[in-house]
Amino acid sequence: MRRVLVTGAGRGIGLATAHAFAAAGWQVISLDKEFAGEVVGERVDFDLRRVEEIPAMAAAVGEVDTLVNNAGVLYCDPVDAIPEEHRREILAVNLEAPAALIAAVAAGMKVRRRGRIVNVSSVSAFTGHPDLWYGITKAGVLNLTKTWARALGPHGVLVNAVAPGPTRTRMYDQLPQSRRDEVMRAVYSGRVCEPEEVAAAILWLGSACPEYVSGVTLDVNNGSYPR
Ligand SMILES: NC(=O)c1ccc[n+]([C@@H]2O[C@H](COP(=O)([O-])OP(=O)(O)OC[C@H]3O[C@@H](n4cnc5c(N)ncnc54)[C@H](O)[C@@H]3O)[C@@H](O)[C@H]2O)c1
Repeated sequence: MRRVLVTGAGRGIGLATAHAFAAAGWQVISLDKEFAGEVVGERVDFDLRRVEEIPAMAAAVGEVDTLVNNAGVLYCDPVDAIPEEHRREILAVNLEAPAALIAAVAAGMKVRRRGRIVNVSSVSAFTGHPDLWYGITKAGVLNLTKTWARALGPHGVLVNAVAPGPTRTRMYDQLPQSRRDEVMRAVYSGRVCEPEEVAAAILWLGSACPEYVSGVTLDVNNGSYPR
């Protein structure tokens, strides 16, 4: 049975992704720092801010066929008054942890000459974003994706990203109403995305997309490019 490790699987897009892989017959390893409710598959309690402990954690999890770097954090601080602890947390969870996890699983995938990695970026990678470090890390995830796609391509491993627009999760709910209105004005369909829609895109990239698809970012944004 194929194995997938999904980070941030305690709720939102990560939980929907865990369900999507499980429904497709995969063995799911759900990682989060807090599980509010249901857990799909095997549960790993881990705080991704502990970046230096990621290699040991990944070794304990064992071989995976697919890694989904989904966990993320966002704050709504004024651009000129960002608490240092928020900057550190966003950098660690959104960028350093995915980079460390990829490095941790890449070695085994290279040996087996197969594997897929899907990173969750955001439409905010392409625009200015009210949360300075959120936007920076989500843009960084795209370069991380291309760099590892290049490094692992000769070894049969695919590395891709999804860039969701406004998606019905706790993260979107925490945005100020003014920001949500701004984003929604641009959306073609006039509705927010459901977590299951992003999960379907992640599942495709993480299991079924053609092997020639690597290093790409799949927009799941419905036109939602705010200023
Ligand atoms: N919801 C949106 O509108 C939207 C849009 C674009 C991109 N995204 C991205 O989608 C991904 C999932 O976000 P979501 O919308 O489901 O948000 P969410 O806040 O509902 O879920 C995020 C999950 O990540 C986990 N997490 C946070 N910090 C962690 C840590 N230190 N260690 C382990 N787990 C941690 C949380 O516990 C939570 O389960 C994120 O990377 C986010 O940036 C979301």
